[in-house]
Amino acid sequence: MNYKELVDKENIPKHIGIIMDGNGRWAKKRGLPRSMGHKAGSDKVVEIVESCYNLGIKALTLYAFSTENWKRPSDEISKLMELLIFYVKTQLAKIKKNNIKINVLGDYTKFPDKVVSEITKALNETSENDKMILNIALNYGGQQEIVRATKNIISDLNNNIITLDDINTDSFKKYLYTFESPDLDLLIRPSGELRVSNFLLYQLAYSEFYFSDVLWPDFDENELCKAIYDFQSRDRRFGGL
Ligand code: IPE
Ligand code: IPE
Ligand code: MG
Repeated sequence: MNYKELVDKENIPKHIGIIMDGNGRWAKKRGLPRSMGHKAGSDKVVEIVESCYNLGIKALTLYAFSTENWKRPSDEISKLMELLIFYVKTQLAKIKKNNIKINVLGDYTKFPDKVVSEITKALNETSENDKMILNIALNYGGQQEIVRATKNIISDLNNNIITLDDINTDSFKKYLYTFESPDLDLLIRPSGELRVSNFLLYQLAYSEFYFSDVLWPDFDENELCKAIYDFQSRDRRFGGL
């Protein structure tokens, strides 16, 4: 089925989040090292960012490395860092041309210096862009994000920048990494796992969930459109009737 043709261009989700999972299993199925799965997965990032851009999605949040992924073997972590540098280096010119703003969710300063400098460059060079926001979750955890926001709120309170009455569910959002993105409409998780793995815990309060058995390196534009098409059939009530 060609889902791209079926998608209603007038009802595109504003903000999509993707848990890019299944690289390891994709490689294993082919008798390849896990690193090859990550390489294939990073190629998909290029394709899906472009598709989201062409569909007019305002914000795309990609889960690239969780606070829990440090538990992996160091050679796998190094490979992921290498791919991250490669991604930024090869894609930055196009991202700039397309007026896309890069934003990082998570404390990326814990990454190796080379990664930090490439990312800092990408953040600086795209900070004025406003066609689309590409949020990349790096060393990100949803619980950590909420704790961080809480600490910053307390600090603002102590410094008399805000009062207790200023704190509410909306103002809280301003303390999250996604403060510039619209509410998360659609959460996609490929690879068949039915969990959120510490991703966007605050933001997904009223998101629609889409789980797919397709592994991330096989997740293409048609799969993305299939998810959006499915999203468009949902009755979002937000607690109302
Ligand atoms: C997702 O693929 C990539 C990262 C978490 C960085 P995995 O590496 O988790 O792949 P599986 O889940 O082992 O198949
Ligand atoms: C979630 O995938 C993190 C990323 C995709 C970056 P994991 O593979 O780490 O999650 P679990 O371990 O299956 O929950
Ligand atoms: Mg996984």
